[in-house]
Amino acid sequence: MIRYLILLLNVVAITGCGVKSGSSDQDTFEGRNITALHGMVVSAHPQSSRIGLLILQKGGNAIDAAVATEFALAVCGPEAGNIGGGGFMLIRTSDGTTDVIDYREKAPLLASRDMYLGTDGNVIEGLSTDTHLSAGVPGTVDGMIKVHAKYGKLNFKEVIQPAIDLARKGFPVTKGQARSLNDNKEYFINKNLKIPAFVKDSLWKEGDLLKQPDLAETLERIRDNGRDGFYSGKTAELILKEMIRGKGLISEQDLNEYKSVFRKPLTTDYKGFRIISVPLPSSGGILVAQILGMIDQYSIKEWGFHSVKSVHLIAEAERRAFADRAKYAGDPDFVNVPVAGLMNKKYLTGRFADFDENTASLSSEVGAGSPEGYESEETTHYSVVDQFGNAVAATTTLNNIFGSSIVVDGAGFLLNDQMDDFSVKPGVPNMYGLIGGEANAIAPGKRMLSSMTPSIVEKEGKLFLIAGSPGGSTIPTTVFQVIINVVDYNMNIKEAVDTGRFYHQWLPDRIYFEQNCLDSLTVKELMLMGHEMRSRPPIGSVNAIQIKLNGEIVGGADKRGDNVACGY
Ligand code: GLY
Repeated sequence: MIRYLILLLNVVAITGCGVKSGSSDQDTFEGRNITALHGMVVSAHPQSSRIGLLILQKGGNAIDAAVATEFALAVCGPEAGNIGGGGFMLIRTSDGTTDVIDYREKAPLLASRDMYLGTDGNVIEGLSTDTHLSAGVPGTVDGMIKVHAKYGKLNFKEVIQPAIDLARKGFPVTKGQARSLNDNKEYFINKNLKIPAFVKDSLWKEGDLLKQPDLAETLERIRDNGRDGFYSGKTAELILKEMIRGKGLISEQDLNEYKSVFRKPLTTDYKGFRIISVPLPSSGGILVAQILGMIDQYSIKEWGFHSVKSVHLIAEAERRAFADRAKYAGDPDFVNVPVAGLMNKKYLTGRFADFDENTASLSSEVGAGSPEGYESEETTHYSVVDQFGNAVAATTTLNNIFGSSIVVDGAGFLLNDQMDDFSVKPGVPNMYGLIGGEANAIAPGKRMLSSMTPSIVEKEGKLFLIAGSPGGSTIPTTVFQVIINVVDYNMNIKEAVDTGRFYHQWLPDRIYFEQNCLDSLTVKELMLMGHEMRSRPPIGSVNAIQIKLNGEIVGGADKRGDNVACGY
């Protein structure tokens, strides 16, 4: 109640850098950097953010809005939004309780350790990314239904309906989408039995309407039959038919047995803030905790933002965290991972004891540590907060852009190519250049290791920040940078999200940085310290929300994509 009164007192002062509509208390705001009073959704597409907002304004809570946004993204963001893939959702309810739903895909029961290797023992290129064999058993539908049943307030039918309408009536594609649909035209034609909705005779242009009638019918079956609308009945028949056509492995038993699971979130403390993130089978939460734990004792603020000293420190912490990931991280239902040991502050201090302030270490010499107790970048993240103070951070993916590019014929959705996130051959890099070990080897029914890092930050026990990003292996370091940009460098959420980024992931042994992120003198000095430096295209695309002390909700939608914040 107090929060609500403060909000009303502040109404006059509210400004949004976006478009404002509606009247008085129900004013809605839309843009990349808006401030609102009651609730907000920040996602990778204007349509999905609007649908999430609509559900909030109907009285739905953050989980209702998140589920509506997730299904909407499956329609308007087919590059990564999906019902044929999976993800992780982190929830913090208004009383501070936290929970995670893991709806990561699983290896089919017929999968085997060396299924992507030829008779010569080498990886057969493209098998784990471009074929029916690349698809893990999808988890999104089971995850959404389960999380909604536990936390949702509105009727499920009401929550999924806007996505159905969007698929049936169509939506105008953005400029970026027109480009990526055109870039993938040949893939869509070559890999599919029938020409899918993603292909147009002429080239796509910004504003062209993309209608997906098959997908609308699949979503209707989910609306009417719940889990059975996807994992059995007509949709399951269509998936199995697609598997037979392309010699894929997903079976009736896989679909029947797939289960998303609730897991305990990971937490770590950093400079008076509590960071809450997702556990294995995503490595994201552990990586962020490890990197923060290693740099905790250093005054990066005094050293200056993107100074030689701070970039060197962070890169060295990241190098060590990713080396640990390669050795230890895997599906906790299959391998024993020393999670507490890896996040232990004493372990992290020891792990960083060989840090040299003046010289880069060599990844070839930095192996994994010994903790006690013995783990294309197209993913999409959205952040939600509601009028009750519940918050959701969710990241979902098909893995590569448009996943495997294979559309389940008649069902209108894309299959993931998530199997590539396993170590297809331990020691051989995947599409992100990540090296994995035995812990992440393929096994029937096992979940492939992820880097997704939907995260929530508390300040003095109160909800403070909701953030996450796509970007494959760059996700944890992107989320980490948003956190230190706010905590250490006092940036507002929009600056924290938009400013330049860099990362090190142990192997390849180099610092990648966005163009114009580091000045040329800094780059030169880092090279003199022994770092290989490589500039690259944009890293990640963050959707974040900050809750200010006075209760204002501020959205930060990354300038790097079509991201939009909608609030009221
Ligand atoms: N497919 C990217 C990830 O899960 O990290």
